[in-house]
Amino acid sequence: MTSSREGVWRQKPTAIYETEIVTCSLCGKMIPVKYWVVGQADGSEKIFCGPDCEQLYREYWLPKYGDQPSEKAQERSVELMTTPIPPFTPKKVPEVRTRYRKIVTELPAPDSVPLLETMARYEPRSMLGQPPVIWDHAEGFQVYDHYGNMWLDWTSGVLVANIGHSHPEVRQAILDEVERGLLHTYIFPNEARIRLVEKLVELAPPGLDKTLLLTTGSDVTEVALKLARGHGRMVGGEQKIRMISFTNAFHGRSLGAQLMGGIPKLKSWIGPLDESFLQVPFPDGFRCTDTSFELFLQSLENASVTPETVAGVIVESFQGGGVSFAPVEYMRRLREWCTRHDVVLVCDEVQAGFGRTGKMFAFEHYDIVPDILCCGKAISAGLPMSAVIARSALLDQYGPGEMSTTHSGNPVVARAALANIEVILRERLVEKARSMGELLHADLRQLQVEFRPVIGAVHGKGLVAGIHIVQPGTTDPDSVLAHRIVMECFQRGLLMFAPVGMATVKICPPLIITPDAMQEGLQVLREAFRAATKG
Ligand SMILES: Cc1ncc(COP(=O)(O)O)c(C=O)c1O
Repeated sequence: MTSSREGVWRQKPTAIYETEIVTCSLCGKMIPVKYWVVGQADGSEKIFCGPDCEQLYREYWLPKYGDQPSEKAQERSVELMTTPIPPFTPKKVPEVRTRYRKIVTELPAPDSVPLLETMARYEPRSMLGQPPVIWDHAEGFQVYDHYGNMWLDWTSGVLVANIGHSHPEVRQAILDEVERGLLHTYIFPNEARIRLVEKLVELAPPGLDKTLLLTTGSDVTEVALKLARGHGRMVGGEQKIRMISFTNAFHGRSLGAQLMGGIPKLKSWIGPLDESFLQVPFPDGFRCTDTSFELFLQSLENASVTPETVAGVIVESFQGGGVSFAPVEYMRRLREWCTRHDVVLVCDEVQAGFGRTGKMFAFEHYDIVPDILCCGKAISAGLPMSAVIARSALLDQYGPGEMSTTHSGNPVVARAALANIEVILRERLVEKARSMGELLHADLRQLQVEFRPVIGAVHGKGLVAGIHIVQPGTTDPDSVLAHRIVMECFQRGLLMFAPVGMATVKICPPLIITPDAMQEGLQVLREAFRAATKG
């Protein structure tokens, strides 16, 4: 412990809280990096300096839990934290003026602070944690605030704006529909919805011949669950209801989606878990080094799960938290196993679809076809829309009114989605993601060599990459460093969202990014790594 840290915890507890927030690599909750306020048994509070604070360990953890191995540091940090409203203190940063980036104020921009504070006051804590910029407008691969700053965007608004932000054709399509005077039809038919479901079936491989439009990614994974279980019961009776998914998987935040998810801390609110949901190790080749399909079979056997009781398997085509792909052989054998046992295979492409990985859909990398395809995010380039594309035998299980929502296939959103798909196809963005991805991944391989001790792995394909930040020389995540890297980029005009999964810095620019903008971003990333790892 350094002397400045000693100074911090000895201070009388005050309302001075925290200046930076990181995402816990275990549970995804937000943790203040610098000061923690820990409630004591007598109702008072104490400030501590962070997850490794020795005083925190001595005074609180040790009496309660005894001596624990150091890897427990993250866990105890999560249990003890209380996250206050951040003060959003503007910080002086060097001015940046290039073609793609402009930083001319302190960050956060001082004039944005009252609005940020209003946000923190009226929204739940769950909405905090991103670099503090209030988006004013976004175009192409750039994001602007109202105070003269401009960021090169490597988020695509969480893999939504594959064709770039505010594409003129999508804006026009929205305006046209609004001008015509149609904002909503419930599930009465509207032409845009009909054209869109037809288009999505055209894009999907043969056999996936019907589409249900919904609103969020969680909606579609819930529907996939309903379809798989309904089918299971029909072909295998009461017992065929189990859903198999993977460790570290994310399928959304509603109940079914979280039961299928593979991040235990995210489901602590549920209480006793339903035994018909089982997670098996995801073969990412980094934290799970056994990537053979035998591990899948063995995991079922260990849990005494027989195929006759399994209704479906749901897998992200790449796992979002680490941008990790399963081996091709594994996925082929999984497909065969599902077919043999009449188990529905669901590919969750909510973030992987629409060209991101250099294929229209990421499952194409495995040369398999799922029974159900879950789409969302980049389907409509900005307005809320998602889709389940599946075999009609699955989607037609339910009768009129038994599987629909108020906003299924909203006409304005459906027009936006149609325009979006047209742009993806016409501008050959799938091919572009593939070729630009080569540039990106070649550079990241060099970065990994340069910063080897703290980069455990780099995963991804096409224009999506995940840099796994680790404690030097281990596979233990270092979410503090990962967050620092993101903030260093932010202060230099390169926008990334907060680290995901186990301290993964995620890169996902719009697919229209130009080679020189990409190179500039990579240069900034390198500078950020240097600054964040220095000292
Ligand atoms: C693979 C995957 N499935 C489902 C979801 C949930 O989507 P939504 O946030 O739209 O509910 C996400 C969101 O990040 C996702 O990445």
